[in-house]
Amino acid sequence: MLKIAIVDKIHQDGINLLKKNSKFEFEIIEDLSKKNLISKLPSFDGITLRRGVIDEEILNKCKKLKVISRHGVGFDNVDTKFLKENNIKLLVTATTTSVSPAEHIMFMIINISKGIDFFDKSVRNGQFGSVMHMNHQTFELSTKKILIIGFGRIGRKLIKRCLGFEMKVYVYDPYVEKNLVETSGGIKIDNLSDGLKEADIISLTVPLTKETSNMINLDKMKIMKKNAVIINTSRGGVVNEKDLNEALNQKIIYGAGLDVFEKEPPDNNNPLLKNRRVVLSPHAATFTPECLSKMSIETVQNIIDFFDNKLNKNSLAKI
Ligand SMILES: NC(=O)c1ccc[n+]([C@@H]2O[C@H](COP(=O)([O-])OP(=O)(O)OC[C@H]3O[C@@H](n4cnc5c(N)ncnc54)[C@H](O)[C@@H]3O)[C@@H](O)[C@H]2O)c1
Repeated sequence: MLKIAIVDKIHQDGINLLKKNSKFEFEIIEDLSKKNLISKLPSFDGITLRRGVIDEEILNKCKKLKVISRHGVGFDNVDTKFLKENNIKLLVTATTTSVSPAEHIMFMIINISKGIDFFDKSVRNGQFGSVMHMNHQTFELSTKKILIIGFGRIGRKLIKRCLGFEMKVYVYDPYVEKNLVETSGGIKIDNLSDGLKEADIISLTVPLTKETSNMINLDKMKIMKKNAVIINTSRGGVVNEKDLNEALNQKIIYGAGLDVFEKEPPDNNNPLLKNRRVVLSPHAATFTPECLSKMSIETVQNIIDFFDNKLNKNSLAKI
């Protein structure tokens, strides 16, 4: 029997799929400390990985390991260099992890542009009349320009939703063809700064890499419009948090929506937690029952297909 470690609990639908397959036995590992992972993981043939960090030291001890199946599409919590050198495959949930994140980006854009939190509080506080002619900054999305940075699975779902709101969509992604952007209804930007200057909304849907780390810092924010809104649902560290807080406080830009943080959970004294110009969520872009169920099934199906030699190439992470 092949032994699978489920590192960090996943939706029951995925676990049930593994339960039904007599080829596998599995254990759910909920203590994600390095001490626990290093003692538990060496006996497994495959791992499903949601949260938890699997570094070189842990991998070095996993002599039987053939595959890691990520519950998700980002893989900055795994030592990919080690995997590559040791021919351990890394799989991602390529087909199920984009609709909810794209909707989450729209939720943040709508929340900010319609002043949802402000209005809600005002009505509850008995200020119904006084907010009717207020000067709280709300804005129409129609004809506004959005810059999508990273035109992969989520970016391509997002563009459809933005076009539905009659927004003008710019795309910055040096690794995709102009033709793909244009046939999707967008305009490809070759120079990031050109896009940042034009956009009312900037949404980041890139992986965290050496190239994208700190991609949006104070210098970049200074070239944005004063009414610009940054939405980061990709990974903390792509947008510099200290710079973002400063840019918001100094009114260099208007607002931000953050689902991801440099440190998760963020420290209580992270000033962004008190900044009223930011809408926050707890790395929750996939947190819908539909998405979590589908992701858990795809995570497990990828492991099954790998051991059955039936793996769809799209599931293999490009490392
Ligand atoms: N908040 C969440 O819960 C959540 C959920 C899913 C994904 N994510 C994050 O979102 C990221 C994107 O997901 P995806 O499925 O669309 O990934 P993807 O791999 O399909 O697309 C990423 C795109 O970014 C582009 N890119 C890479 N480097 C770039 C750069 N320097 N400048 C511009 N573009 C660049 C790539 O060419 C690619 O088209 C993931 O890597 C993950 O970290 C977060």
